[in-house]
Amino acid sequence: MLPQWIIERKRDGHPLTDGELSFFITGYVRGDIPDYQAAALAMAIYFQGMTPDETATLTRLMMQSGDTIDTSSIAAPKIDKHSTGGVGDKISIALAPLVASCGIAVPMMSGRGLGITGGTLDKLESIPGFRINLQPAEFISILKACGCSMIGQTGQLVPADRKLYALRDVTATVPSIPLIVSSIMSKKLAEGIDGLVLDVKCGSGAFMQTPATARDLALALIGVGRSMGKRVTALITAMDQPLGRTVGNALEIRESIDILLGRGPGDSTELTLQLAAEMTTLAGFTPNPEAARPLLLRKLETGQALDVFKTMVRLQGGCDGIVDTPALLPSAPLRQPYAAPCSGFVATVDAGSIGRAALLLGAGRTKTTDRIDPAAGLSALVKVGEQVTAGQPLAILHAATPEHISTALPSVQNAFTIVPGPVTPPPLILERL
Ligand code: URA
Repeated sequence: MLPQWIIERKRDGHPLTDGELSFFITGYVRGDIPDYQAAALAMAIYFQGMTPDETATLTRLMMQSGDTIDTSSIAAPKIDKHSTGGVGDKISIALAPLVASCGIAVPMMSGRGLGITGGTLDKLESIPGFRINLQPAEFISILKACGCSMIGQTGQLVPADRKLYALRDVTATVPSIPLIVSSIMSKKLAEGIDGLVLDVKCGSGAFMQTPATARDLALALIGVGRSMGKRVTALITAMDQPLGRTVGNALEIRESIDILLGRGPGDSTELTLQLAAEMTTLAGFTPNPEAARPLLLRKLETGQALDVFKTMVRLQGGCDGIVDTPALLPSAPLRQPYAAPCSGFVATVDAGSIGRAALLLGAGRTKTTDRIDPAAGLSALVKVGEQVTAGQPLAILHAATPEHISTALPSVQNAFTIVPGPVTPPPLILERL
């Protein structure tokens, strides 16, 4: 078998056999197949797609390309959540401790931000001392101690995705459903989970910009997860405006603590509760998501979820004093309000534009090697439907230099539309699958 024969078959629209996919993935991870042939295959998959069986085989082969985490010594059900990524999406940070406080184990392997979407690891690293590079034994011991742990992808985990994702990023082959599905699910399945809740984002700040494409992605993710014997559900959620009122790493940690204290913004708190309810239901702890709500609210009110967060932060080397003293988090030397140009009702807070503004303020990266400013970003963001008066801040920009602020300002200006008449806030959850 030669790699070019496999590329040719996919280019011409034929499904690949398990043997062909295995030959290609093992050869690529070993270094026998060069990047240019893997890039050609990725582009052929981008144009020709894959059948559900091919996608499931590709996912399994990628998962088996390295180590998997053995969670069998943990008795509790192991349930994780994955979001396809959005602007201001800090949900995992409060969600994992909240669900862990109910007795469920949440082994969470997260990613870094790239482009306009933020990454949970970057947010966590804005907590002084927090370590995301844990060996599997320490990961398991923290999971046993407090019910949740949040780490990055270790060197030996899913090396096929590590190589292929970096290649896709520079060959315009990221937005392909079979490639996204195999990338996400290979990593999630390698965590040793029993179940997974997917938050598939839809809108201007997400990969999938329409409900139809978000639904296709959700169904493909669910199909692969279930074909591997896992319990999987998905929510399709809105990403036309940022989630919550902050975008930027340390700022989002502050908001996550507020959610755990029961005083977070309405939308980010609500999505945390809804996803947590799906997780307790997948774990068999509640008969349905509606029934989970009183339990989850109690965990917030009694401070038990916050205690789990503090313990996890401490066990991962972080400063848990940030909970009582948020000033211990990095803060930017410059804070500049962006004032409403007129009075009226907020019609749009475009997530894509706010994501670009955060990137330009220093909160994100355009290349994987860029350094980020943990303090940069936006806070006090208004929400669609709110009434504002001329001169009132629509957001506060946080940055290290005046140049960062002036570069980001046009994107901030573009984000907001204010209209004279009332605007109905859009729904947060578009569909449950
Ligand atoms: N996130 C991933 O991990 N992989 C993709 O391909 C897209 C988003």
